[in-house]
Amino acid sequence: MKTSTVWLLPLAALATTTTAAESAKLNAVEEVFRRSWNGYREHAWGHDSLRPISNSYADDRNGWGATAVDALGTAIIMGLDDVVDDILNYIKTIDFSKTDTEISLFETTIRYLGGMLSAYDLLKGPYKRSDLSAKAVNVLLEQSVVLADNLKVAFNTTSGLPDNNLFFDPEPRVAGSWETGLAVAGTLILEWERLSDLTGDREYGNLVKRAENYLLNPQPPENEPFPGLMGSRLFVENGTFADNIGSWGGGSDSFYEYLIKMYIYDPDRFEFYRDRWVVTAESSIEYLASHPTTRPELTFLAMFSGTEPQFYFSHLGCFSGGNFILGGLVLKEQRYVDFGLDLTAGCHETYVQTSSGIGPELFQWQDKDTPLDAGNNHGPETDAQREFYKDAGFWIMNSQYVLRPEVIESYYYAYRATGDEMYREWAWDAFVSINRTCSVGSGLSAINNVMLVDGKADYQDFQESFLFAEVMKYIYLILSDDSDVQVKKDGKNLFVFNTEAHPIKVLGS
Ligand SMILES: *[C@@H]1O[C@H](CO)[C@@H](O)[C@H](O)[C@H]1NC(C)=O
Ligand SMILES: *[C@@H]1O[C@H](CO)[C@@H](O)[C@H](O)[C@H]1NC(C)=O
Ligand SMILES: *[C@@H]1O[C@H](CO)[C@@H](O)[C@H](O)[C@H]1NC(C)=O
Repeated sequence: MKTSTVWLLPLAALATTTTAAESAKLNAVEEVFRRSWNGYREHAWGHDSLRPISNSYADDRNGWGATAVDALGTAIIMGLDDVVDDILNYIKTIDFSKTDTEISLFETTIRYLGGMLSAYDLLKGPYKRSDLSAKAVNVLLEQSVVLADNLKVAFNTTSGLPDNNLFFDPEPRVAGSWETGLAVAGTLILEWERLSDLTGDREYGNLVKRAENYLLNPQPPENEPFPGLMGSRLFVENGTFADNIGSWGGGSDSFYEYLIKMYIYDPDRFEFYRDRWVVTAESSIEYLASHPTTRPELTFLAMFSGTEPQFYFSHLGCFSGGNFILGGLVLKEQRYVDFGLDLTAGCHETYVQTSSGIGPELFQWQDKDTPLDAGNNHGPETDAQREFYKDAGFWIMNSQYVLRPEVIESYYYAYRATGDEMYREWAWDAFVSINRTCSVGSGLSAINNVMLVDGKADYQDFQESFLFAEVMKYIYLILSDDSDVQVKKDGKNLFVFNTEAHPIKVLGS
């Protein structure tokens, strides 16, 4: 590990008391939570996702009530005891051995397992309530064990690398997939290790650790085109990488995210994960950082195909700013914090430049340091894109917004690291834009076009469960006082957030 000798302390101190303006904002966040929660409670209760316009539901996460489980931790942190009690009573009734549809090991782990383990840690720890019996809280761990016992068949493959796709019909079995992905296989370790540490049964963590070895020691070498940056598909049969195309965005993102988070969770057992994160971070700064020709002051992270960068970045990838900041705080490496703040500022531009004030799903630019006639560096193709690119520094390749959190998530880390009120303002502006543009019917809806405003947004009639787990939690926490659950600027965290923003108690904290 490289550490700089000079550790610059942030100049501004974190606010320690809530002002009247902040508490008015916290109340406004609670209003949005309650409105969309009530929509779910009335029209989609016990199902996965609310369809707020048709006042109906979708069972896109196996029908176990994904929104209820994903919302629990945020309701605990916001102190909404009536909602918490409602969800706790519901969770004990879920039958995690039955579903008619294919199960994603990854989605089930980050939403259901992460949601229940986090709520358990919160209610046993800083959010302990004297009016809740131990039995009411223990149900969260008991149901986590039931769920993981049904899921663990995923690891019964020739390599031990999990098949992400399962069926319970009625006995759990794997789908027999040829391939899996870096992110889906690499975003299990925090939740399954926590389950082992809480139950004393090492099997859960050991299954994932064995699989993770293929990701930490990637083969063949040509599919790790830059040190620590790999392709995104792997063969389930033997754990080798099937391609050399990757990024910090969808398909790879949370594998890199969890490397540093595992070191935070337990620095003794996960030192090697930290070393791999540092290698990835250094390569990303050296080979992927890119500045657009029209706005050279902006920093984005390119994707790559082999050693050739591709100048695309995504809403999903915008979590990277926060992850660099977190790594920098924990490793006391100011360069990583600064780079993370640059990425966060770049992603902020994707919000302020659109008509809705919300950033798009995918965008592109021309790199200022690559020849403009290079095959991987072509300019905008339409007049509208060209016009937009002049001032914005990027042009839009996919204009959806599906209630994702990553940009607000990075503002959260930026605020926790610097105490600079600007990041709270950026988060508030984003939240107001999301509420204004996506509120419809009985809740909030994903939209197809961030360039349409005034109620004309092309609604998808779909409210993802991560609206509650992530968007609502990060906006609430950035406006809140310091507490045990908050990210610490001295790097001494008591909790670490899973990729669905469920805070997991750091081992031994
Ligand atoms: C594991 O897979 C093998 C071979 O497909 C199968 O025979 C065995 O029953 C499976 N074990 C479990 C626990 O599912
Ligand atoms: C791994 O499995 C894939 C798919 O079956 C195969 O193409 C590849 O050659 C195998 N690699 C090794 C090193 O066995
Ligand atoms: C959210 O939208 C609702 C309904 O349009 C509005 O009443 C409320 O003031 C908005 N809240 C914020 C924080 O903008």
